[in-house]
Amino acid sequence: MKRVEGKVALITGAASGLGKAEAILLAREGAKVIVTDVNDEAGRKLAQEIDGAFIHHDVRSEDDWRRAIAFAVERYGKLDVLVNNAGIVVIADIETTSLEQYRLIHAIHSEGTFLGCKHGIEAMKKQGGSIINTASLSALRAYPPVVAYASAKGAIRSLSMTVAAHCQDKGYPIRSNVIFPGNIDTPLLEGAMGMKPPPGTGQPEDVANAVLYLASDESRFITGAEFVIDNGVSIRPGA
Ligand code: NAI
Repeated sequence: MKRVEGKVALITGAASGLGKAEAILLAREGAKVIVTDVNDEAGRKLAQEIDGAFIHHDVRSEDDWRRAIAFAVERYGKLDVLVNNAGIVVIADIETTSLEQYRLIHAIHSEGTFLGCKHGIEAMKKQGGSIINTASLSALRAYPPVVAYASAKGAIRSLSMTVAAHCQDKGYPIRSNVIFPGNIDTPLLEGAMGMKPPPGTGQPEDVANAVLYLASDESRFITGAEFVIDNGVSIRPGA
């Protein structure tokens, strides 16, 4: 028996990096995966490779969210797993970040995850499901060079636990958990570092394995939880 056999999963920003690795692993473990992204070419190619589906989806747009969730339900009859993953980073501190940059980062990360939870719950509340939200170590520590990104990730952390409690209070069989990846070798990190990440940096599969667990029924007793995936970096003094 595969670990997410028969489940329907929607992953945002799945054309690249962590989302792509998550899509490949969930599909290999039996899920039907809806790849969503603003990068149509890469998204379509991946969907074909994993026998899933692609839909163009800008996570900032509520209309796109409605379309993406409706697509999942129409095509596959339900939505079991939602991974809020799409993201970008702007390298700028509190003095150099413009309001426009701050709003852009919050629109993608904070508002995008809010819209995903809101519309995901609607689709999942009868039959149940698992929502997996992607934060970052920058939600747990001070990272001055990425002030907008860090504050948006902090919002995702709070949102995720609030959604978990809300679903329990309402009696919806929906779990909501949040992951905090450390440095993972993806185009986003390479762009932020301005160089290829050094050997020993985490790989997208390291995060995908945690997402697989949270997507599967193996984690059925886990909600409102926080998963740091950083090979212990954040427990060190000075991290
Ligand atoms: P990536 O750049 O490889 O992939 C991000 C994907 O999101 C791209 O395919 C991009 O087209 C898509 N995207 C960007 N804006 C979008 C929008 N408005 N709507 C829909 N899709 C959009 O980046 P990576 O590293 O895979 O990042 C994935 C998530 O993991 C992000 O939320 C990021 O903040 C988070 N993360 C990444 C870490 C790392 O070291 N790579 C560390 C901690 C968190």
